[in-house]
Amino acid sequence: MTTSLKTAALALAAGLFTALPFAASAQTAPKTVDPAVVDAYIKSTFGHSSPEWLARIEPDETLKTCNRFHNEVPSAEADAIVKRELARVVYPADGKFLGDWKAGRKIADNGRGGQFSDKPGTISGGNCYACHQLEKAEVSFGTLGPSLTNYGKDRKYAPDEIKTTFTKIYNSQAVVACSNMPRFGANKVLDEQQIKDLLALLFDPESPVNK
Ligand code: HEC
Repeated sequence: MTTSLKTAALALAAGLFTALPFAASAQTAPKTVDPAVVDAYIKSTFGHSSPEWLARIEPDETLKTCNRFHNEVPSAEADAIVKRELARVVYPADGKFLGDWKAGRKIADNGRGGQFSDKPGTISGGNCYACHQLEKAEVSFGTLGPSLTNYGKDRKYAPDEIKTTFTKIYNSQAVVACSNMPRFGANKVLDEQQIKDLLALLFDPESPVNK
């Protein structure tokens, strides 16, 4: 390399190094956006939707609290959320929690439902694989939630664990305040039988989750 080229290369490198901190600070600098601007934007985007859809973008009291604290809720608010959400859980009238794991497997794998392109009468799935590993043989899964492999086996198939897991799937916020997991039963995404089938997927010793 000639001296002049070397100098040019050095200058370029120096330029890059001085440019980098700018790029980094531009990305990490806290941006304060007025929540009212965000709300107005969302309303203008969804403004022509049906009243049913408009109702879905209105956060309830629990979500408002979670938003206010960016999900880092102080313990008094967390307790209030868990108490309020627990009151919304409807346990099976027949006292039975376990359905059919084969049906549960299909529900866990189904990401349909709640979309504007759905045909009328579309039955929603749980889309559990979007966030969780379940069967070891399935290689495509998200990692936002913990792995659920061996879920029932690890909990010794204990009845109180089964009940807590029903609560979790029915209304995640009744177990963990400001959970990122959807409130499947409370928000009527899944019905009672579907939740029972998912519980069987997690708790039946014959389910591939526990193999
Ligand atoms: C959008 C992501 C998301 C989806 C979809 C989701 N979960 Fe979760 N789930 C989470 C997160 C995050 C946690 C951990 C935090 C918490 O407990 O709320 C969790 C926790 C759990 C737990 C408790 C795990 C433990 O070790 O205590 C169970 C059981 C569970 N999920 C089951 C399901 C099932 C069944 C489905 C499908 C019907 C599902 N989840 C769909 C995000 C998700």
